[in-house]
Amino acid sequence: MTNERILILDFGGQYDQLIARRVRELKVYCELRPCTMSIDEIKAFGPSGIIFTGGPHSVYEEGAPTADPAVFSLGVPILGICYGCQLMAKLLGGEVKPAQSASAREYGRTETDFDTASPLFQGLKKRSVTWMSHGDYISCLPEGFSPAARSEACPTAAIQNAARSFYGVQFHPEVRHTEQGMDILRSFLYGVCGLGGNWTMGGYRESAVKALREQIGSDRVLLALSGGVDSAVCAALLSEAVGKQLTCIFVDHGLLRKDEGDRVEAAFAGRELNFIRVNAGARFLAALRGAQAPEKKRKIIGAEFIRVFQEESAALGEIEYLAQGTIYPDVIESGGGSAAVIKSHHNVGGLPENIGFRGLIEPLRSLFKDEVRQLGRELGLPEELVSRQPFPGPGLAIRVIGPVTERKLRILREADAIFREEMAAAGLGQAANQYFAALTNMRSVGVMGDGRSYDYAVALRAVSTEDFMTADWTRLPYDLLDRVSGRICAQVPGVNRVLYDITSKPPATVEYE
Ligand code: XMP
Repeated sequence: MTNERILILDFGGQYDQLIARRVRELKVYCELRPCTMSIDEIKAFGPSGIIFTGGPHSVYEEGAPTADPAVFSLGVPILGICYGCQLMAKLLGGEVKPAQSASAREYGRTETDFDTASPLFQGLKKRSVTWMSHGDYISCLPEGFSPAARSEACPTAAIQNAARSFYGVQFHPEVRHTEQGMDILRSFLYGVCGLGGNWTMGGYRESAVKALREQIGSDRVLLALSGGVDSAVCAALLSEAVGKQLTCIFVDHGLLRKDEGDRVEAAFAGRELNFIRVNAGARFLAALRGAQAPEKKRKIIGAEFIRVFQEESAALGEIEYLAQGTIYPDVIESGGGSAAVIKSHHNVGGLPENIGFRGLIEPLRSLFKDEVRQLGRELGLPEELVSRQPFPGPGLAIRVIGPVTERKLRILREADAIFREEMAAAGLGQAANQYFAALTNMRSVGVMGDGRSYDYAVALRAVSTEDFMTADWTRLPYDLLDRVSGRICAQVPGVNRVLYDITSKPPATVEYE
């Protein structure tokens, strides 16, 4: 693990995860931790620099989140952002007040003038846009501080005590709207903290392999491989670390896309590990027979998955560790890494917590998704696996609307493969964040050759989104849709109509069930 470590103390701001991602983009390792961290825990973390995040409170509110003031005696550089800046001013003896007039509150794009003699702003343009979001302002600076940037409404848009390496910015350098935001973060990390930026996935691979070997010793590890990015990268990393001590169980539930199961298997063919593929398609289909309601289908699949996994692992005898591909956003969302709440994420992938393992191994729990993909490339996984779109655990069963049958799955697999092929051929593979075909439960009349047909309608869906919480339908070119529709009707027996879904989320969801 790198010795350059930034500690980000979390005061509850909406951009907190973004700060962590930006610091990582600048190749510096960082962790987002609750602001309630004790001074001993902070010392044990060994930060090279500390960032205080923004937050929704006012520093003078009763019970407003705060940090242990001893943090200012560690001799470690500190950057306070928005609420973090105001808190630093208050804790060091300055004064923060609510802005009296509406014009003194700033929200959104704000022209800001920088003192480019400040170590934080060296080399910057003197004036540029920052992103502000504050109703309070620093009315009196603490001793030893001076202003380092100003806007029309705020004479303390940035403050500094360069001798102690304490800096505060009222705006948000982590959001893209702040034009020189990355430069400012870079100055803090490389200039003020004196870091070199040595956090790379090549380095992570090396240190993670070493740490895994130490932790696992000669014990054995079991991993449920789903074919998704996280579990695949987890498997590749563990196989490099402990080789044959790792056993991966890949439950092929028969609900994957065309050739997907074989591709997952092929990606691990040359690696040292025990790879068990369980072809359980018939079992899952039998369990799903007659089920129509989406939630019922999901529950059946989840329960069947656990049953198959438990049977297979029981047959292997006692294995000490269970590995999981938990990633950093899961950890942050479950409480920022505080031990009490991590458990809620132990059953990622639907595995029950208590299935008799001595310990849990989560080698990706400090990585963001884009870092996981990068690590996968480092480990030589094929690009199609590493840059794979999200694919739901219940697979095609929730893209066949209503009852699932083998015939319907066959139809959907072929139609979906054609859609993906044509997207790739048109160079539009990155044009949408997720795209797929679904098989509607509707049959309609058509005419094919000289005869009447009464066949299914396939729906095509493509969405553009940042976080999958909201999504817009992607405006795919008509000629592409035309080619896809033509090929599906001509080449996939059982389909005589193709529909394009033009619904955003909300009101729809990305998937159909
Ligand atoms: P929805 O349909 O909720 O989907 O708008 C949002 C994103 O989540 C994926 N998704 C799932 N992923 N297990 C998963 O691992 C699931 O059960 C599941 N359901 C939806 C979906 O593909 C989309 O990316």
